[in-house]
Amino acid sequence: MKPLLRSLAGSVQTLADSGPLLRDAVQRGNLRVIASMLGPAFRGLVQQRGRNEQMTPLRLGYSAQFDWRYRRTEPEMARLYEAAKASQWNATTDLAWSTDVDPESAERPLIPDALIPLVNHPAFQRLSPREKGAQRRALMAWMLSQFLHGEQGALFAAAQVTEAVPWLDAKLYGSTQVVDEGRHVETFHTYLTRKLEKLYEINDNLYVVIDALMTDARWDIKFLGMQIMIEGLALGAFCHLRQHTQEPLLRQLLTFVITDEARHVHYGVLALQKFYETELNERERREREDWAFEVSLLLRDRFLAHEFYEEHWAHAMSRAEWDRYMLESETMALFRGTMFKRVVPNLKRIGLLSDRSRPRYAEAGLLQYEHLRAAPELTAKDLLEDR
Ligand SMILES: [Fe+2]
Ligand SMILES: [Fe+2]
Repeated sequence: MKPLLRSLAGSVQTLADSGPLLRDAVQRGNLRVIASMLGPAFRGLVQQRGRNEQMTPLRLGYSAQFDWRYRRTEPEMARLYEAAKASQWNATTDLAWSTDVDPESAERPLIPDALIPLVNHPAFQRLSPREKGAQRRALMAWMLSQFLHGEQGALFAAAQVTEAVPWLDAKLYGSTQVVDEGRHVETFHTYLTRKLEKLYEINDNLYVVIDALMTDARWDIKFLGMQIMIEGLALGAFCHLRQHTQEPLLRQLLTFVITDEARHVHYGVLALQKFYETELNERERREREDWAFEVSLLLRDRFLAHEFYEEHWAHAMSRAEWDRYMLESETMALFRGTMFKRVVPNLKRIGLLSDRSRPRYAEAGLLQYEHLRAAPELTAKDLLEDR
């Protein structure tokens, strides 16, 4: 086979192996979703642009909406805007950067062993305390790196939706989210480079979701992908980590970030609830419902820390074995639960969890969270206590 053909064949195979995104979506007949995801999946899974390039330019096409009437029609968003202005913080001066962080410490562990997915695996149990320390550091650096890349996506998505949403109150609020997300990029990057001294590339699946919502022309898809899905999952993960880490600086910075993110998810729910109730016909609503489900699966099944696996476990077990372990381990199930409980109630609130999609969520093990409180009913204090 010629080299070009061989590389093309390899690329197609990578796409075919890429999990639920295409294979299962085809089976479910979600063709519109597949069409909207093909470009992002090609760039993320085949070209692996998030990993192979130092800078990735993406061509965007969406409409900015000017509003010359300046009507203030959304009081709840106006309230969030006031709260955001009163809650600004400075990552440079408000966080205790002078804290001495030992990323491999067993006394003040970044993450307790009980939260490490392999904790019950004999191979993990055979590790020396020093090796366990190195794994804690790597796993946390991997996870926080994904948060950092997600924050960069959130910064851009917040800027896009600020231009594109039709309501002035939403634009004003969005302006504060842009500042918040810039601060989060700064915070995570500083922590990773100065304290953990380790930074991982973006996970391919996270790249696909970010690329998909960035390049989609519809502003509500940006909201759905970023404010509801990625930020909802991140919020759950932040709360879980904050509850369990013994490292005081990480705990402090997560406390600040969680308080901001609580507003962002709340804002996303308000905007989409209004838009989906008043502006979409049933066909358009179903398309969003399908999109959200495919993205849920992508984020549920494919966040498997392969970069961490390749560095620490590839010599000891096959990738299939690793994946099985990650999907079945109790620790990971608990972690997925803490993340999805911040997503599913919000999907329900904005009208994307109907009798049509409920069985699919049930089959994916995600329906159990549907009766929990949605973002508008949760205070930052509830979230900090992971309630
Ligand atoms: Fe953020
Ligand atoms: Fe955010």
